[in-house]
Amino acid sequence: MNKLYLLGLAASLALNTSFAGTYTPPAQGKDAFIDSLMSRMTLSEKIGQLRLISIGPEMTLAQIQNELAAGHIGATFNSVVPWDNRAMQDAALRSRLQIPMFFAYDVIHGQRTMFPISLGLAASWDVAAVARVGRVAGSEASADSLDMTYGPMVDIARDPRWGRTSEGFGEDTYLVSRMGEAMVHGFQGEDVSHADSIMSIVKHFALYGAVEGGRDYNVVDMSPQRMYNDYLPPYHAALKAGAGGVMVALNSINGVPATSNTWLMQDLLRKTWGFKGLTVSDHGAILELIKHGVAVDANDAARQAIKAGIDQSMNDQAYGVALPALIKAGKVPQGEVDSAVREVLSTKWDLGLFADPYRRIGKPENDPADINAENRLHREAARDVARRTLVLLKNANHVLPLKKQGTLAVIGPLGDSHTDMLGSWSAAGLPRQTVTLLDGIRTAVGDQAKVLYARGANITDDRNSIVFLNNIILDHTEVQPDPRTAQEMIDEALKVAASADVIIAAVGESRGMSHESASRTSLAIPNTQRQLITALRATGKPLVLVLMNGRPLSLERENQQADALLETWFAGTEGGNAIADVLFGDYNPSGKLPITFPRSVGQIPMYYNHPTIGRPVEPGKPGNYRSQYFDADTSPLYPFGYGLSYTQFSVSGVALSSTTLKGGGTLDASVMVSNTGTLAGETTVQLYLHDKTASMARPIKELKGFQKILLQPGEQRQVHFTVDENMLKFYNQQLQHVAEPGEFDVQIGLDSQDVQQASFNLL
Ligand code: BGC
Repeated sequence: MNKLYLLGLAASLALNTSFAGTYTPPAQGKDAFIDSLMSRMTLSEKIGQLRLISIGPEMTLAQIQNELAAGHIGATFNSVVPWDNRAMQDAALRSRLQIPMFFAYDVIHGQRTMFPISLGLAASWDVAAVARVGRVAGSEASADSLDMTYGPMVDIARDPRWGRTSEGFGEDTYLVSRMGEAMVHGFQGEDVSHADSIMSIVKHFALYGAVEGGRDYNVVDMSPQRMYNDYLPPYHAALKAGAGGVMVALNSINGVPATSNTWLMQDLLRKTWGFKGLTVSDHGAILELIKHGVAVDANDAARQAIKAGIDQSMNDQAYGVALPALIKAGKVPQGEVDSAVREVLSTKWDLGLFADPYRRIGKPENDPADINAENRLHREAARDVARRTLVLLKNANHVLPLKKQGTLAVIGPLGDSHTDMLGSWSAAGLPRQTVTLLDGIRTAVGDQAKVLYARGANITDDRNSIVFLNNIILDHTEVQPDPRTAQEMIDEALKVAASADVIIAAVGESRGMSHESASRTSLAIPNTQRQLITALRATGKPLVLVLMNGRPLSLERENQQADALLETWFAGTEGGNAIADVLFGDYNPSGKLPITFPRSVGQIPMYYNHPTIGRPVEPGKPGNYRSQYFDADTSPLYPFGYGLSYTQFSVSGVALSSTTLKGGGTLDASVMVSNTGTLAGETTVQLYLHDKTASMARPIKELKGFQKILLQPGEQRQVHFTVDENMLKFYNQQLQHVAEPGEFDVQIGLDSQDVQQASFNLL
């Protein structure tokens, strides 16, 4: 649920009273301290620790004050300014045992400085850049007095109808894992207890990205092999990278909701993975067990959730209301509550809050005079990262880069939109602080060229969609349609285009279209914008489409109409400047798709690493009784890993240090990559492996490594990958993690299709 609307409420939360007593930090070590604290806690104080309150909808201000002082709230989320949080911490310290609270928020791709949405970040294939995003976001969030973020989201997304595709890092297990780890490292910094670190809670455990039909909150039904091989590793990777907790998913898994799923939280998470840390339900998920049809009432729901292993209950009163009686009646063992309380207290310890409850809140005299001050932003980092995330999909006749001369027409509903540039889950980012495409282009050209602008079309003319979009982000101003008719807007755009040398059309989705609960049945650019594009094409002027969207779109028609296509996702605070950098060649694009772009919605699910089948379609060899669509091309429009540059790269054949690999050994696979063009540029060299014959059908290829390299014109570099047995392992029919002897293909290239290949045998 997007909480933008809560900021205003939070601002009025400052309490009149303040903590006037003394607080003495513990003298003991962690375990001894928690043991002794728990021995002094009443049952209601223990249950209080398990209550995670959503500020605004869940409780009134007066209730929050009283409940904190009574020791009945463990933590809150959605308040983002130090003075509000200080007042709440004061109240928590007035409680009998002076247990500090913590403050959480959804910091997904930035706190005040917004970076590109996560799907865009993944398109950078740049681990250092993503870690930088986490670090900037973590330091800004902690400076806003936050202790914890509900991020990163590492749900694998292979069905772009799902609006939350935008919040994750795409379709691939390996790439999502690396990006998730980088984000965790960034958020948590060197040590999560530091004042400028925040704890990362990875979400949504588990498999949320596989909701049927891409319809949000729908069921997930999946084979154990697919779970273990494809969908679970990113959560595990984030936890191994040190994430302090997991948020449990809203969906069911093979019939059992994640929130009441003992297998998920006890067997897999705690026992098999050995995870020690916090588990938190998603928003209202415990009571939703009734709607799922597995709990009869709130008591039953709370009983099942605590038994399964949900430590903190987010935004429902289930634990607070139900647990006292359940324990009294012996329906919930005290031990289950105690373990959950221990995790919460341990989290607070790890955050450094027992040592100093005001660690991130700071002293009143150090509060920023203006919480939205420009100097609290990290614009340089935002621009540097954003331009690395842009993916050049097409560039016919080298129409790009553009020259800073003549007359440029910026057209389209996203051309001057501040709000959309932020993307969904934009935390405390402000629309007015974002650079639009029009702003960015104007700044880039200065007085060297004339820049004209026309809106050209509304995002959509579909009334139901507009109502929907203005309701999911509750300030009701997300989509403000222009009252003119579509034709009037196109006429104005054509007039502007007539006097321009080149048209730059910013088209795609509004940010709310790629959001929680925003599932679509079509991946097309909305019709009103397609009409605009067709009219612009008819002018015969060079047409550059700047795409903004939070999911793959079906772009077959636009691919034919446009001379150039630049995928820019929702690029964040510095989006307009970053896009202008690429449009004018001040930065050579290097992004690569982290997710397959299908030709049409009918091809979904479509992902590059599907398992081998008995009757594959062979490119260029049409025939009946093949796995294909007879009414359309079966291939993707743009494959996973794809993206162009303003320079050209060539890749030599694959050299292997050996054609055999012994268990426990390694081999070196390398290619020579050359920059054969005239500009310096970065590209990502990708390593894929394919197990040719195994006890189960294995993916036709799987990403197992990548390196982003910068080459000067004419420069060549041998790029090496080390292949070891671990990279060949998979979960077999018995869910054993094994590498099976036999032949493997090694493919190295610049996208998932354009590869060089060699083979070796695992002995
Ligand atoms: C979302 C979570 C988010 C939570 C708190 C829920 O609606 O599913 O991803 O962390 O709200 O805002």
